[in-house]
Amino acid sequence: TVVDATGLLVLPGLVDVHVHFREPGMTEKEDFGSGTRAAAAGGVTTVVDMPNTFPPVATAEGFQQKLDLVAPKAHVDFGLYGMLGQDNAAEIGAMAELGAMGFKLFMGQTTGDNRCPDDAAIYRGLEAAAAADLVVGVHAENDHLLRMFIDRLRASGRTDPRAHLASRPTFVEVEAVTRIITLATEARTKLHIHHLSTGAGLRRVRDLRAAGHRVSVETLVAHLFFDDSAYDTHGNLVKLNPPIRPAEDVAELWAGIGRGDVDVIATDHAPHTPAEQAEQDVWRAYGGFIGVETMLPLLLTAAAEGRLTVEDIVRLCSYTPAQRWSMPGKGRLTPGADADFVLVDADATGVVDPARMHSRHNVTPYAGHPLRGAVVATYLRGESVFDKSGITGAPRGRQVRPARQV
Ligand code: NCD
Ligand code: ZN
Ligand code: ZN
Repeated sequence: TVVDATGLLVLPGLVDVHVHFREPGMTEKEDFGSGTRAAAAGGVTTVVDMPNTFPPVATAEGFQQKLDLVAPKAHVDFGLYGMLGQDNAAEIGAMAELGAMGFKLFMGQTTGDNRCPDDAAIYRGLEAAAAADLVVGVHAENDHLLRMFIDRLRASGRTDPRAHLASRPTFVEVEAVTRIITLATEARTKLHIHHLSTGAGLRRVRDLRAAGHRVSVETLVAHLFFDDSAYDTHGNLVKLNPPIRPAEDVAELWAGIGRGDVDVIATDHAPHTPAEQAEQDVWRAYGGFIGVETMLPLLLTAAAEGRLTVEDIVRLCSYTPAQRWSMPGKGRLTPGADADFVLVDADATGVVDPARMHSRHNVTPYAGHPLRGAVVATYLRGESVFDKSGITGAPRGRQVRPARQV
């Protein structure tokens, strides 16, 4: 193939380690076809899909069923997480055999039926993941504390969007971060903190790293681009677990990117139906919204504003995720690597336009957000998956299995 990239930037395809493409069982929100089309249009060539589906992916049998279900629909390459649940340590090894990219531990209440496992169950799961040399990715919020705060706020009659932020004070995150890092160090597990949202959480990670603990940290595009003023403009559309935080936290996350404390930026692409996104009662509303198609344009815009560099984007969204999850051939454009790349017009100006997006539903709080930088074309293993005509070709995405490093 000859590709004309005159005047364009060529970047390695993005590796988004945090998406919810909702299969099985929640396809009214998204499916693997629409989710991976949105990824391709966003310059994302590899995704890691989360297991909080219906049913959750917590057994080898469920993992294989999901693989069979989604593989034929994938327009980009994908890894799948299994669940680290209350009593499934034995299944973790079996899911590893099927190529699980890692295991998700939900410590705090979020979409799906995710009660936090008890500490002994967590520890057994961490050991099982360590034996397979696979990452455990954690949603770090203390479930008991946040449910108590929700109960109190409900009893007080609050139903406004900001009550969600009030239900999750920073120590709800800091406590869970501290506990899980402590356990994972003992179990010798590769630990990744998904969607760290608070300055206090990041400071705690820094302290624990200084004491010798090893952990990787992710921030979301959403936690970098929105502060709590977004509750006034967007209401429950920006409900997110963990919540959109005050501006001081957002500033600390950006500073953490500048200092190298943040390893990965991801989307937490978490679609819901338009009716669910319009829910007025904060306690009935779902957390999460789409993001896989807007991540790169938004980050390029931030780069044009000098908030980070294009090299930072490549490291945080492509190189480091591929390394950390041991994805062979991904995250770099060197001889022998997969030819997953994206052509970017760094000077293109525009706005986020939901009408031109590819998710099942395109309700997004970024609608109308000014952009500087656009995805022109995306290539997966050397062949076009997106260009100016739209999504090109049949689904050719493959499962990415982590290289064993034991
Ligand atoms: C996610 C979802 O809807 O699956 N929602 C969210 O608010 N982030 C789940 C999650 O990542 O916690
Ligand atoms: Zn989460
Ligand atoms: Zn998520």
